[in-house]
Amino acid sequence: MLSAVVCVSGGGTNLQAILDAIDSGKITNVCISAVISNNEDAYALKRAEKKGIEAICLSPKSFPDRGAFNEAFTQRMEELNPDLIVLAGFLVAIPEAMVKAFPRRIINIHPSLIPSFCGVGCYGLHVHEKALERGVKVSGATVHFVDCGIDTGEIIAQKAVQVEAGDTPESLQRRIMEQAEWIILPQVINDIANGRIS
Ligand code: GRF
Repeated sequence: MLSAVVCVSGGGTNLQAILDAIDSGKITNVCISAVISNNEDAYALKRAEKKGIEAICLSPKSFPDRGAFNEAFTQRMEELNPDLIVLAGFLVAIPEAMVKAFPRRIINIHPSLIPSFCGVGCYGLHVHEKALERGVKVSGATVHFVDCGIDTGEIIAQKAVQVEAGDTPESLQRRIMEQAEWIILPQVINDIANGRIS
């Protein structure tokens, strides 16, 4: 049984897709041991609580500086010691010490086809704003291993989504979540848990 900790910052729809996939059997051999958020108001924490999963808030605002937060975040993750860390709409940079402590055991979902529309400052709706500004006809989502960069780790899976005439950043975000994020993230977790990706 693979233990996983899911890190979230917002609504938690990717977390919900993982939980639903476990309930439906699309994901096997996985136990979500905790959900961690940097945002105490994240609805994702409520989603975890509803399933009886430990919901932890670790906010950088509660620490004197980012270094102290990084140390506490890394220490807590080492105490939880999951087989896999899943960043699901998580908007905080992962401390280098954590990346080094969990090599090839941290994955992230990004709402574009990396290397397009990623990197510093390119998160959430900003990703889709840039895609529409550029006029791409196809966008999508990417699951990748997390390294010490921002969205630079080895790509594991991608799924393309058509951009439609009249799309707004919100409508494109929603379609990419429904048609790509909520599909490939559970698939990758299931493949890792069942030895098809390592
Ligand atoms: C999603 O587009 C995700 O890819 C991005 O943040 C948005 C919200 O994610 N990182 P969630 O609903 O909190 O899972």
